[in-house]
Amino acid sequence: TNGLTVHELAQEIKEPETEVIKFLFFKGIATNINQTLDIPTARMVAEAFDIQVETAEAESEAKKTTEMIDEGDLENLKQRPPVVTIMGHVDHGKTSLLDAIREAKVASGEAGGITQHIGAYHVDVEHEGDNRQVVFLDTPGHEAFTAMRARGTRVTDIAVLVVAADDGVRPQTIEAISHAKAAQVPIVTAINKVDKETANPDRVKQELMEQGLVPEEWGGDSIMVPVSAITGENLDLLLEMLLLQAEVEDLHANPDRLAKGTVIEANLDKARGPVATLLVQNGTLKIGDSMVVGSVFGKVRAMLDDRLNRVEAASPSFAVEVLGLNDVPQAGDEFEVFKSEKEARAIADSRAIDQRQSRLQQAMASRRVTLNTLS
Ligand code: GTP
Ligand code: MG
Repeated sequence: TNGLTVHELAQEIKEPETEVIKFLFFKGIATNINQTLDIPTARMVAEAFDIQVETAEAESEAKKTTEMIDEGDLENLKQRPPVVTIMGHVDHGKTSLLDAIREAKVASGEAGGITQHIGAYHVDVEHEGDNRQVVFLDTPGHEAFTAMRARGTRVTDIAVLVVAADDGVRPQTIEAISHAKAAQVPIVTAINKVDKETANPDRVKQELMEQGLVPEEWGGDSIMVPVSAITGENLDLLLEMLLLQAEVEDLHANPDRLAKGTVIEANLDKARGPVATLLVQNGTLKIGDSMVVGSVFGKVRAMLDDRLNRVEAASPSFAVEVLGLNDVPQAGDEFEVFKSEKEARAIADSRAIDQRQSRLQQAMASRRVTLNTLS
């Protein structure tokens, strides 16, 4: 299509026509509801009313993953671990499942196990005779998706959809499926709580089929694993399946270049200053690297892995806690390492100025609309 009328747009974004036309009138774009708007204008209006435009987002997300890789990387691409987020309805066992996997896979070999979380962790998995890794993001999948999708960043390679076998598909299950689909992230389903007497995995599969996920054993291509976070049943199988799905996705990056990636979490630590968990999506991050994180400059002073060990380097798909940033960036911001400190500082400065300007513009635009609405 090459456009839609103001009337159609108002219906589409579920806002009163009068508000939409007021906004457009004030901007000098349209004066009556039958006027046709082109797609970019319609999108701008939708965004001004705080509506996320799904198709635009899906496109930009798909683009973002490939943007992390550029032509110069093509000759040095190496396989990287999958980055996985967990999604699902409230109480279906997302946290229990993450904890069970972490305990089974991490704590065993580590004195003291996990003491503190950094927002992501990796587990080692034996796969076809090789030692492989799976990286889990510890943010609730939904938050990770919404916060990062808003910025058009894609960090997840695979979504684990947790569905309780005694409860079945529920509203947030459906929501999770649609989020993953919009982001073009493949879903591996964990049918959880199969230890319960009331568990009915077949009924869950039936309900998932109604949502367009057809299990492999019924001729579809959707992987579904019956598991229990309590007994630990099939957790290994789930990890295996994640690696199989990763093979289908063909995940690669170039470890031999300056690092790029995304902020998973960030906060201000009283003792240590700004601390950020960075997911490396391309290249290798090293101590001493000069980087721009969003609009913040940083020089990596120390890095800690998910077991809180100091590390010297972090390769693609690994997340590390980084010290040495000048300020606290936002989750979802991208980071990039530059060859020289001078270059990184200059870029951070100019981004900070851009950001201030666009914030000012936004403030002015919203003020105008408010005044206009009041009049
Ligand atoms: P929210 O974060 O609130 O959305 O919940 P969640 O999805 O993280 O669920 P959580 O892990 O907190 O588990 C909810 C309840 O289900 C807890 O009481 C768990 O002990 C229980 N539970 C989780 N997994 C299993 C399981 O495999 N079997 C049984 N029997 N109970 C489970
Ligand atoms: Mg939870």
